[in-house]
Formats: sequence, structure tokens, C-alpha cells
Amino acid sequence: MNKKVRKAVIAGNWKMNKTPAEAKVLVEEMAPLVKGADCGVVVCVPYVDLCTVLDAVKGTNIEVGAENCHWEKSGAYTGEISADMLVSMGVQYVIIGHSERRTYFGDTDVTVQKRVRAALDAGLTVILCVGEYLEQREQGITDELVAMQTKIALGGVSKQELSKIIIAYEPVWAIGTGKTATAEQANEVCSVIRGVVAGLYDNAAADALTIQYGGSMNAKNAEELLDQPDVDGGLIGGASLKAADFSVIVKAASR
Ligand code: PGA
Repeated sequence: MNKKVRKAVIAGNWKMNKTPAEAKVLVEEMAPLVKGADCGVVVCVPYVDLCTVLDAVKGTNIEVGAENCHWEKSGAYTGEISADMLVSMGVQYVIIGHSERRTYFGDTDVTVQKRVRAALDAGLTVILCVGEYLEQREQGITDELVAMQTKIALGGVSKQELSKIIIAYEPVWAIGTGKTATAEQANEVCSVIRGVVAGLYDNAAADALTIQYGGSMNAKNAEELLDQPDVDGGLIGGASLKAADFSVIVKAASR
């Protein structure tokens, strides 16, 4: 992390876990543990938990995000939620392009770009996920792939709007598997992404961009990963469901 030039952000991604009642318990347990953190603390939660969690974080330093949003403002899209709907509730962040959305729900680089556009237009901060499958890493195409995902997703995003973007580098083979990328691997790809952003905009914009690592980051390995110069935080799945573990990661990012 280089906190002199950019903000560290630890974001939880709860995925399809926690009922509203369970969500309230978790956030209330978490709040005192992350109080006063010297980094952004965000929890991205299922749509049905948003109301409860937004209420529970009042007066704390925890901010709230959704896990996806649709690209249209409204209309005949049964089962979908628009960015404007999220903003109207008080939601500030949204995860876009998570590999589980890409793998199981047909999200493509093109729909990711449309969702990013809609989220920015609504005023949300986007946590944009990019990352390679194991076969792609083994083929040696990680850098090109992640560069392409980043370029397509940021198509049409202005330099000013970049301040509302966080990129999360999440190697798909490390998500929920317990197989973390080494700190060097994580840093290498985060640095490639920063280079791509410098090429699209300029060095100052790239230097100011928060780039997270995600994929089995936990209370034990967070410090080593966050010590890397180009890793500015984490997108945390499994470990964000335990208040104590999540708070250890937040503390590692607060140093
Ligand atoms: P994990 O998930 O921490 O459980 O690997 C990370 C993510 O999918 O964002």
C-alpha cells in the first residue's frame, strides 16, 4: 500500500449469505472492532440485507455496498435492481463484474462496462473485479486478459470518474479455494493493472487508483499481501463473514 497517494479500502463481499436478522448481528459485532480504522471499511451485502445493514451502520465508519446492479434505470427486467434504486436507499458502493457473476450469470466484459456506466451515472463507487482462470494463468495470458477486462470495463469512463472506481484483482483460482496468490503474484498483477490505467489516462490517475487484491485473503495472510506496494486493500469473501477475522484484516490495512 502506498497510503501517501491513495486510500486503502477493505471491502467485505458477503455473497449469498446472511438473512437480515443475521446481517444485523454481524454488523453490530463488527462495528466496535473496526472503529477508528485508518482505511475505508465497506460491507457489500445481499439486496435483501441492505435496509437492515444501512440502518445498523448509522454512526459507524462502515459503508455499505451491493453486489451487483443492472444497467438500465428501470423497466421490464424481472428480478433486477437498478443503480438508482440502490442510491435511493443510501447505498454508496457496488461490486461489478465479480467472477461468480461472469461464470454463473452470463456477465461479459460488455455487460460489465454497461453496469459500470450505470453505477457511475447514479453516483455509486464501483468495485470492479477482474481476474484470470487457472488455465489462463498457466497459458501465460494473465496480464493480457486482465488488461483487456480493465480496458473494456473502463471504456467511456472519464479521468474524473476514475476517483469513483476501485479495481479488485481477483484470480478466479484463488476465490473461496483457500489458495491465495502469493504476495508477489498479487502485487505483479495489481501493478500491471496500474500500468494499464496509466496508459488509458495518466500516471497521476493511476497512482491515485485504489487496487485491491481478492481471493482467500484472511486474518493470517492479509498483512503480507497488504504490505505489497501496489496492493491497496482487499475484497474479502469468506473472512468477511466473521467479525473478528474481518477486523484483523482491517487492522492490517490501517497500519
Ligand atoms: P474469498 O472471496 O475471500 O472467499 O476467496 C473473495 C471474493 O470472491 O470476492
